[in-house]
Amino acid sequence: MSGPSQFANPKLNSEDTKTRFTDYVVLVTGGCSGIGKATLERFANDGATVYALDIRIQKEDELKEKFGDRVSCIELDVSDAERCKEVVNKIAANHNSKIHTLVNCAAYFGSKGLEAAKSDWIKSFEVNVIGYSNMVQAVVPFMPKDGGCSVVNIGSISGKRAQPTRWTYSATKGAVHAVTKCMALDLHLNNIRVNSIAPGWIWSPEVLKACDGDREVGHAQWHKFFMTSRLGEVEEVAAVITFLASKDASYITGANIPVCGGYLAVGPEQMGESSKYAGTEESAE
Ligand SMILES: NC(=O)c1ccc[n+]([C@@H]2O[C@H](COP(=O)([O-])OP(=O)(O)OC[C@H]3O[C@@H](n4cnc5c(N)ncnc54)[C@H](O)[C@@H]3O)[C@@H](O)[C@H]2O)c1
Repeated sequence: MSGPSQFANPKLNSEDTKTRFTDYVVLVTGGCSGIGKATLERFANDGATVYALDIRIQKEDELKEKFGDRVSCIELDVSDAERCKEVVNKIAANHNSKIHTLVNCAAYFGSKGLEAAKSDWIKSFEVNVIGYSNMVQAVVPFMPKDGGCSVVNIGSISGKRAQPTRWTYSATKGAVHAVTKCMALDLHLNNIRVNSIAPGWIWSPEVLKACDGDREVGHAQWHKFFMTSRLGEVEEVAAVITFLASKDASYITGANIPVCGGYLAVGPEQMGESSKYAGTEESAE
């Protein structure tokens, strides 16, 4: 088996796409941190007016300095359906009642297994699933029916593979993948595409927490889970989310796209260091 993958950190060319979202109004929940913030920045780079809707506002000054008034942050707990409607109505009122794109990215990461209490289940589903639905319900009335509108829901590899002590979180991510397909089916009548993605381990603040902020320690422990021999960057996930929201993805709906460096494709032999197969060498007569 050859050595570590030679996949280089990609040089995403954000110059190529600078105008593809001109006149778009985009909402990103959880947009003040990690994958959500990188997504907000990519949309803004590409011409959109973008709102970060987040329970904890941070980095607003940094974003305003970069993008001016095309970026705004509004405090919102997505599990509060009435407040979702109130915030979305206000935003729509500023943009001729038009909102083009919703990215559901906010997450509650609390994870419980055998010991999960009813309150753990409720909290996880209230944010990660019902919160996504609250936002879709609030936004759809403002999405023009003449095409170009879409929703991207952030799922996870955790919704597809068993991980220890993660019943509550993983169940919500599996639910995101399932509900995305139902949303896509119903909303195609409004010309709205709905897709989900399944990120692998991505260098967001949440993953950094798990290695006490030391990327080298995290890399040493986790790189072997991926064909790419490395974890992903938030910008690499943002690139896929914005692609799904763009006209280039006009024939993609109801899909789940893995953004996981090959994690979901690797089998129990992992990268093959210890595997041996009959038939791979000339057999001695
Ligand atoms: N980082 C990873 O490795 C990874 C892997 C797979 C999936 N994901 C998913 O990607 C998304 C973003 O995760 P991240 O790693 O960037 O996390 P993050 O912690 O950097 O960002 C999450 C954001 O959501 C906000 N938030 C939490 N609860 C909220 C609520 N009730 N209402 C509104 N905002 C709320 C937080 O304040 C935060 O800004 C999540 O849906 C997560 O499940 C992340």
